Amino acid sequence: MTMSLDDPRALRDAFGAFATGVTVVTTIGPDAKPIGFTANSFSSVSLDPPLLLVCLAKTSRNFSAMTTGQGFGVNILSDAQKDVSNTFARPVEDRFATVDWAPGPHGAPILSDVAAWFDCSLSQVIDAGDHVILLGRVEAFDNSGRNGLGYARGGYFTPLLAGKAVSSAAVGHLRLSAVVERQGEVLVIGEEAYGLPGCDIDQGDPLEALKAHLEAVTGLPMTIGFLYSVYEGLTDGRQHLVYRAFAGEGPVSTGRFVPIDTLAQAAFETPATADVLKRFAMESSIGNFGVYFGNEIAGRVHSIARKA
Ligand SMILES: Cc1cc2nc3c(=O)[nH]c(=O)nc-3n(C[C@H](O)[C@H](O)[C@H](O)COP(=O)(O)O)c2cc1C
Repeated sequence: MTMSLDDPRALRDAFGAFATGVTVVTTIGPDAKPIGFTANSFSSVSLDPPLLLVCLAKTSRNFSAMTTGQGFGVNILSDAQKDVSNTFARPVEDRFATVDWAPGPHGAPILSDVAAWFDCSLSQVIDAGDHVILLGRVEAFDNSGRNGLGYARGGYFTPLLAGKAVSSAAVGHLRLSAVVERQGEVLVIGEEAYGLPGCDIDQGDPLEALKAHLEAVTGLPMTIGFLYSVYEGLTDGRQHLVYRAFAGEGPVSTGRFVPIDTLAQAAFETPATADVLKRFAMESSIGNFGVYFGNEIAGRVHSIARKA
């Protein structure tokens, strides 16, 4: 069966089967006030030169400001920002009244606590039916490591994988650890043989416990990312959950950061740690991360995220 092209609703619903992230596209209006709208039509386009695109409806109230200004910002919303998405999609009088923001280096409004942002100059406006394609050249950007908010079939979703794995694991015997990244380096504990920072937990929220532990031992602000590995320790009988985490600036009080590309030659405290960190080094080089489920010697890697 094929659907009728005369039914725009059916076409829109079919387009909605494609799961995306959610962005808020911003600029400064002619009266020097910030303006912005929710968009999921974002796509990365080119690394060299650095280009991205978003599609803007010709009916937008801010069509003229968006298509004739100096440029625009793309704020990739984090999984805690569903309300921000709704605010910027509704005809709210002042959409910026309920969010914290600051001008980016190129001038576009950048929202607080987003997963990533791009401040762009306007490279081209391409006519495309009832929309235009805004092609932006990235002049500045940042990536906080927060998980992005998802959108599919008209509804929001957040990465539930972590929650599912935690509830299926034997609570009471959890060993939590993290692959902590910072600017191409990863945090290791121990001198000769590398280990991962982590703690045991018997009750409570594992993500909060891990964040609190990592911040206490390193003295650095931490953001916990996707679950990276779940396995049953054959020698200690515990469920091991390994998350990705992202450390903020500053001197580290426990352990040290080593370049990711030196991990392949390193020695590790346990075979399981070796597997986690060697897989991480390999996946970092190709930009495609998976989640491993299994025990220390046998399991499967499930692909969850792919870089552009
Ligand atoms: C999840 C989501 C994604 C959206 N994506 C787009 C988009 O890519 N382009 C667009 O023009 N409108 C998009 N919209 C609709 C606009 O956000 C909405 O029409 C908004 O009110 C337009 O703002 P304006 O009044 O400033 O034109 C989206 C809405 C939602 C909820």
